[in-house]
Amino acid sequence: MDDLNVKATAAPHFKWLHGDMSQVPFQVYTDEALYAAEQQRIFQGPVWNFIALECEIPNAGDFKTTFAGDAPIIVVRAEDGSVKAMVNRCVHKGSLVCYKPRGTVKEFTCVYHNWTYDLSGQLTGVAFRRGVNGVGGLDPEYDIKKNRLQPLRVEIFNGLVFGTFSDKTPPFREYIGGDLCANIERVFPRKVKVLGYHSQILPNNWKLYVENNKDAYHASLLHVFHNTFGVVRPTMGGGIKLSDNGWHHLSYTVKNADSEDATGKEKVRSLQDQYKLNDVRMMEHKLEFGDFTTNAIQTVFPTLVVQQILNALAVRQLVPKGVDKSELIWTILGFEDDDADMQALRVQVNNLVGPAGLISMEDGCVGGWVQTAAKADPGAQTVMPMGGRNIEPTEGSRVTESAVRGFWKGWRELMGV
Ligand code: FES
Ligand SMILES: [Fe+2]
Repeated sequence: MDDLNVKATAAPHFKWLHGDMSQVPFQVYTDEALYAAEQQRIFQGPVWNFIALECEIPNAGDFKTTFAGDAPIIVVRAEDGSVKAMVNRCVHKGSLVCYKPRGTVKEFTCVYHNWTYDLSGQLTGVAFRRGVNGVGGLDPEYDIKKNRLQPLRVEIFNGLVFGTFSDKTPPFREYIGGDLCANIERVFPRKVKVLGYHSQILPNNWKLYVENNKDAYHASLLHVFHNTFGVVRPTMGGGIKLSDNGWHHLSYTVKNADSEDATGKEKVRSLQDQYKLNDVRMMEHKLEFGDFTTNAIQTVFPTLVVQQILNALAVRQLVPKGVDKSELIWTILGFEDDDADMQALRVQVNNLVGPAGLISMEDGCVGGWVQTAAKADPGAQTVMPMGGRNIEPTEGSRVTESAVRGFWKGWRELMGV
C-alpha cells in the first residue's frame, strides 16, 4: 500500500483529503502505474465484475468471451447447467484458449499447440503427449490433472452473471444492498432476451465514463435533446439512491401520472417551440413496471451500468483498454414474452441510446475532452462540490455529485489512498 500511496500522491500540488471525496488529481486518469495497480486491487480485488447474461449461454457448451478489467475471461454453461468463468489464458504458453466472441463447444482446444480443456477449465489433454516414434513428448512429472484455467467465483443475480477473483467479495445482494437489488429485479422481472449489441471505443480512461454515469447533474445540460423534448428535465421527480458504502448508485426519474394519455403513451411535446420531431415514435413510452419511473440508470462498482430509458433496456459493460482508452459494450434487451409491437417499440426507443444515440452520443465525447485536458498537469484537480461534499442519497433532485463522490470513496478504499 505504501508504495502506491507515495506514487498516488506524487502529483505536485495535490493532497488527498482524508474523508473528503470531492477532489481527485488528473493523475488518476493518466498514470500507468495506477492503471496497473487498479487491475490487481479493483478488477482482481473484492468486486463483482459483470461478465455475461445468463440468456447468452442457455445450453451446455454455450460460451462467450469477455473481460474483467484487462483479464480475458471465458464464461461457459457447464454440463450440469452451472455457469463457470475462467481466465482465457492457456496454462502452456499463455495463448488465448478461445478467440471467438460466442459459440458452442464440447471442450476448449487451444489453437497454438492443441492442449484441451473441459467445460470447467480442467486441462484434459496435451498434443503429442507420448512424443513421436517414442521420442519427445510430455515430461512425465507434469501432472495434467493438477493444471487448469484459473477459475473465477461466479454468482448469478436475476439473470446477470458476475465473476470475482477474490474470496473476500461478499454475496452480490450484500455487495450492492437490497435497495439497489430491487431496481435490477424491477427492470428485469422476467426472462430477458438480447435484441442486439453495440460496441464503441471511448478515447478516455475507464473512470471518466463511470463518473459520467453517476453524474446525474449533467443529464439535462449536456444532452440538449433531453431538455428540448422532455425525456428528462431537472424539475421532474426522482432522486439518487446509494448503497450504504456509497460505491453503487441508482439515478431515477419519475413523471407525473397526469402526463400519461388515455392510450398509455407518453405525450411528446417540444419544450422549445422552434424544434419539432417529425417522427415521435422513438419517444413513445408504455409504462411496464407498475410505476411511473421513466428513467433508471444504475451502476454496480466498478463498471456495470443497468439502463432503463423509457422502454429501452440495456446493460452496459465497460472494459478498460489502457490508461486512456476503454470499450463500452451495450447489450440491448427485451423480454422473451414481448409481443411484436413491444419489441418494435424497444427498437425504436433505442435510437435515443447507444454510440450514436440522441441522448447518449455526447457521453462518448466528453470523456475524451477531459482526457485531453488532463495530460498537461497531473497534479491539478477536478472538483465535485455539487450537492455538498458528502455521500448521501437525495430525493426530489438529481443536481448532485454525491454518487460520483461515492465512486471515489470505493476507488480510494480499494487502492489504499
Ligand atoms: S499455448 Fe495453448 S497449447 Fe500452447
Ligand atoms: Fe450522459
